[in-house]
Amino acid sequence: MKYLTGITLITLLFSPAWLYASQDFSSEIESRQAAFSAIEEYNEQIEDVLARSDSDWVLLEKRSVELVELSNSLIQLFPSGSAENSKAKESIWKNSDDFNKKLSVMQAHYSALEQGIKSKDKSAVEKALKQVNSTCRSCHRSYRSRW
Ligand code: HEC
Repeated sequence: MKYLTGITLITLLFSPAWLYASQDFSSEIESRQAAFSAIEEYNEQIEDVLARSDSDWVLLEKRSVELVELSNSLIQLFPSGSAENSKAKESIWKNSDDFNKKLSVMQAHYSALEQGIKSKDKSAVEKALKQVNSTCRSCHRSYRSRW
């Protein structure tokens, strides 16, 4: 009897069903949703600051550095199989090259935004912001579920 219980336990421990059930991506999902929310908020803040005649370049620089960090952090926050309980679509992992490319295009535009802000070049900043915003739509259309 004791022997059988041991076998059952070992079978349970190494059975694939148990392993899958143990995969919990809630912390990655929470982190990426928080990163996207912050990205959206900082983007809007930058647009507001730019619309003023006396732009606060110190705040702009702070936000742009944070946006570069946030956008760089996303690549690690989409582990394969983490669609459940999130708005990420399964197609992310079927087309991972395309998804990762879209992420890196966003990162590149945020780097351009940061450079533009460092050199206080308003038109370069506006251009980079426009390009960044086009990456949101293009990725959401393919990879974010609406429900
Ligand atoms: C490469 C793909 C990609 C790009 C680029 C992208 N997003 Fe997303 N975004 C996603 C995915 C996928 C989700 C769903 C994440 C989830 O639910 O786990 C999402 C979710 C969001 C959310 C909802 C977060 C929440 O709390 O549920 C916001 C807000 C958001 N994105 C804003 C933006 C903005 C603003 C940009 C552009 C500056 C952007 N995203 C660029 C893929 C992308």
